[in-house]
Amino acid sequence: MSNYHIKGLEEYYQVYRKSVENPELFWEEIAEENFIWRKRWDTVLEWDFEKPEVKWFEGAQLNITENCLDRHLYHRGDKTAILFEPNDPKDPAEHITYKELHKRVCKFANVLKDKGIKRGDRVCIYVPMIPELIVSMLACARIGAVHSVVFAGFSSAALRTRINDASCKMVITSDGSFRGSKTIDLKGIVDEACKETPSVDSVLVVKRIRSEVHMEDGRDHWVAPLLEKASIDCPAETMEAEDPLFILYTSGSTGMPKGMLHTTAGYMIYSSYTFKNVFQYREEDVYWCSADIGWITGHSYIAYGPLANGATSVLFEGVPNFPDWGRFWEVIDKHKVNQFFTAPTAIRALAKEDLSHVMKHDLSSLKVLGTVGEPINEEAWHWYNNNIGKKNCPIVDSYFQTENGGIMLSPIAYATPTIPTYATLPIPGIQTCLMDEEGNEIKGNQVSGRLCIKFPWPSIARTIWGDHKRYKDTYFSTFKGKYFTGDGALRNETGYYRITGRVDDVIIVSGHNLGTAPIEDAINEHPDVAESAIVGFPHDIKGNALYGYVTLKEAGKQRNPDTVRKEINQLITENIGAIAKLEKIQFTNGLPKTRSGKIMRRILRKIATGEGDNLGDISTLLNPEVVEAVKQGNQLM
Ligand code: PRX
Repeated sequence: MSNYHIKGLEEYYQVYRKSVENPELFWEEIAEENFIWRKRWDTVLEWDFEKPEVKWFEGAQLNITENCLDRHLYHRGDKTAILFEPNDPKDPAEHITYKELHKRVCKFANVLKDKGIKRGDRVCIYVPMIPELIVSMLACARIGAVHSVVFAGFSSAALRTRINDASCKMVITSDGSFRGSKTIDLKGIVDEACKETPSVDSVLVVKRIRSEVHMEDGRDHWVAPLLEKASIDCPAETMEAEDPLFILYTSGSTGMPKGMLHTTAGYMIYSSYTFKNVFQYREEDVYWCSADIGWITGHSYIAYGPLANGATSVLFEGVPNFPDWGRFWEVIDKHKVNQFFTAPTAIRALAKEDLSHVMKHDLSSLKVLGTVGEPINEEAWHWYNNNIGKKNCPIVDSYFQTENGGIMLSPIAYATPTIPTYATLPIPGIQTCLMDEEGNEIKGNQVSGRLCIKFPWPSIARTIWGDHKRYKDTYFSTFKGKYFTGDGALRNETGYYRITGRVDDVIIVSGHNLGTAPIEDAINEHPDVAESAIVGFPHDIKGNALYGYVTLKEAGKQRNPDTVRKEINQLITENIGAIAKLEKIQFTNGLPKTRSGKIMRRILRKIATGEGDNLGDISTLLNPEVVEAVKQGNQLM
């Protein structure tokens, strides 16, 4: 893996230059030297952002699980692949070696086959952060089935939408999950979801919390007895480079989530390359990403990226505050973690607690710290740097999206000098640019604009499952010939990027990507609601929180406002999940609209963030008179 580690800023610039001058050659060398292939590719890249279509390594054949498991068996068979740290620290950690993981994946894959799952079938995985989650993902990949992991905090309605969108044939779940001192009835949620999922033939159930659950005759099966009987021999299916590997849903600007489709070879190469370089992972390191596998960060940086590098990856089932706020630091101390990767929202919550929770633990094993998922504010950055890294660990503020498959902008640990709040420089191969609203590229430094990518990278999502037109409209239509991220960014005098936040209707709350449309759809289901609009406003811990403006029908206005607020949040919890609950709900008599009837969120956003005196010209609105009333209502919140 000679060309894999970038060792300094100068080397970074050299590698970057090469990756831009000849991207095909750049990725071809990486593909050749670092992976095993059943058949070599015919072409490295074919692309057309107008269609849009992107194909990497056409003609190549491989199986990603051979790259993540089989090839490590000889040299690293007894090395820990997954270090499972359970929710309760009184329970022992589990060290799953590459040999053991390989065996478990093969057995699970045989169970899938036995239940009729074939190449190309979609399998929904709704499992908490336990080893079976990774095992079942890899088992799908082993036989060429497409996994669709749904974050096990989503409601039954959200789960059902996702199962139906991809016509999943099977759901894998567990009896329940542990979350700190609580348990969650996952099987009950799946049962509710599967009342209207005609494509689902079978539900496999992992035993985790040992609760009593309903098992539907003919449909539901406990996994353990099936695994016991299953053979450990499961040859890997030969996959084409562009065969689908997984679908992962993300929010969009309509109620329907977008099933981003990732394919095999490109995703493998890019998640692996970025993992190794950004974190400067070395053979003996213990690496921990505390994200949930239900998000892209977990797919790429707990499962595929680390395993493709033969790494030891910690899988943590728990939460940061159970049994106390020292849990993260205890885990780092206990397993001598070298690289730790988490979300700014977790850092902000932890920074609010007494420092004694940190001081009790020896964190000297740490070499690299990472953050991902949302902008990190300066205060949180310094707290992390001073108290966790002890000013000795570079902080890699890494930026990417579900659609990207892997990190797009980030310092390379020990190579790129960091500046708080800056995601710094693009990863080699990522051709970033900033665009103005008229569609012109903004050249030079000390500028800001909309962040776009000019050239394909190996792990770009290839389509939205079942809706290629939406894929084109969302990402390739705003700026001709470019992928548009939906984020704003600035480029400073040295060419470093700082992500300034979404410029569309997506709001990042605690690192979770939430579209306003599905939340508004949920609220509008309430019989007393006439209309609603959601905006984000700054929040100490969550980064952003949700602010709802809701206009009630006459009957609703007669009711106790707090009861209606509770009912609205209950509807959101049922339709999406608790992560999308509103922090504040202001009742209004009307919402400001353009003459074409579009709600003016810009105005509502300013009012929610306390900038209501600075709204600019509102005389062109259809109903400028409502603005004053909305402002007054806001002051009472
Ligand atoms: O707005 C950006 C923000 O998260 C969005 C992508 O969300 P999602 O697809 O859920 O993936 C999150 C995990 C990779 C982006 O459009 N975002 C992500 N990382 C950062 C960020 N904003 C600022 N700084 C980051 N490091």
